[in-house]
Amino acid sequence: MPLIEIEHLTHRFADGTCALDGIDLTVEAGAFVLIAGANGSGKTTLLRHLNGLLHASSGVVRIDGVSVAKDPARARRRVGLVFQDVDTQIVGETVADDVAFGPENLGLSRADIQDRVTAALDAMDLTAAADLPPHLLSGGQKRRLAIAGVLAMDPRIIAFDEPFSNLDHPGVRSVLQRMIDLHAAGKTLIVTTHDLDKVAAHADRLLVLDHGRLVIDDYPVACMGRIERHGIRQPCSYRFGGKLESWLN
Ligand SMILES: Nc1ncnc2c1ncn2[C@@H]1O[C@H](COP(=O)(O)OP(=O)(O)O)[C@@H](O)[C@H]1O
Ligand SMILES: [Mg+2]
Repeated sequence: MPLIEIEHLTHRFADGTCALDGIDLTVEAGAFVLIAGANGSGKTTLLRHLNGLLHASSGVVRIDGVSVAKDPARARRRVGLVFQDVDTQIVGETVADDVAFGPENLGLSRADIQDRVTAALDAMDLTAAADLPPHLLSGGQKRRLAIAGVLAMDPRIIAFDEPFSNLDHPGVRSVLQRMIDLHAAGKTLIVTTHDLDKVAAHADRLLVLDHGRLVIDDYPVACMGRIERHGIRQPCSYRFGGKLESWLN
């Protein structure tokens, strides 16, 4: 059974905007999937359907065979969403408190909460910052804190909405390396981006949305000749060298 199954998903906002138009999609456990598309193509709306933050106008999303609409709490345990605007996601007084917030709401024991916080901070290279107030962190550290908060919930799937937006070069590198590590550790990653340069070399699949429709679904390198007509720029390494190179090289 695929980990994520989406059938005929359509989302119409109250003002009539059709943000998703009949999406059919399955994702296997362990995949690293990029979702690209111009602004307004429906990327964020699609991510928000994975853990039940939005209700479909029609169609169904299943995680591990169970409908998200029927059991949104279950979907939220399996799908962690890292929002584009990290400041909306960070709520704790200190870095460690912030990471503890999610596990505390799971009703775990003190010791289990502490273990999860320690592991998530370590995985995101934030142990030394544990006692700092989050507003003192750099952009890359804040993004990693948001990821740590999600990781502490131990989801199988981590969805990242534009994880590189507003990051400087060291910030992009640190976040990208942590994403690669999470994938290597067995997490299924779903990543939206309008900027393929940073991450295309590491993904095993590229989906392209255009006006709410899924128009391309293929290996990233196999898509390169077809993406510009959908408002996505070819990565520089492909444009000038004919292949996808890691941003970390
Ligand atoms: N709350 C909302 N109400 C009405 N329209 C919305 C809302 N949120 C997004 N949209 C519209 O839905 C479409 C898809 O938006 P979104 O999923 O945010 O795209 P992307 O993340 O690809 O930029 C756009 O036309 C956008 O303007
Ligand atoms: Mg968006």
